[in-house]
Amino acid sequence: MEQQHEAELIAAARKAAVQAYAPYSDYPVGAALLFEDGAIITGANVENASYGLSLCAETNAVSKALGEGRRGGLVAVAVIGPEGKGDGAPITPCGRCRQVLNELAALGATDPLILCVGTIEVRRMTLSALLPHAFGPAHLH
Ligand code: THU
Repeated sequence: MEQQHEAELIAAARKAAVQAYAPYSDYPVGAALLFEDGAIITGANVENASYGLSLCAETNAVSKALGEGRRGGLVAVAVIGPEGKGDGAPITPCGRCRQVLNELAALGATDPLILCVGTIEVRRMTLSALLPHAFGPAHLH
């Protein structure tokens, strides 16, 4: 992936995080999905007073994409948390989000690059490395 495209995707995730609704954790997260046609769809985490109902940024972005009719074509994802929290290490999608991302990726048979953004480092991993032996739509038909 080109440096410039990476920077754009990370900037989109950072911008999305501004809209996070995270009053309980005070941990805003932004996610940006890049598609084969160049489109970028973003999401932020949305929490709930019933904490367990909170939704992650990646899950919300995938929901948006599927709800807008996307069925695959996922080439890359950027995820970013707040600066100045924790140790600044790159944040990786939670287990549930890996599964949710896999649904969209599997529909188009892509293995998206996941850009996990930290304070001083961007860690690049494929979704299949983060979620090996994934269960997906193909198992059901
Ligand atoms: N969170 C995300 O949105 N994505 C991640 O990859 C990790 C965690 C959210 C969930 C919750 O709203 C807050 O971050 C703290 O866990």
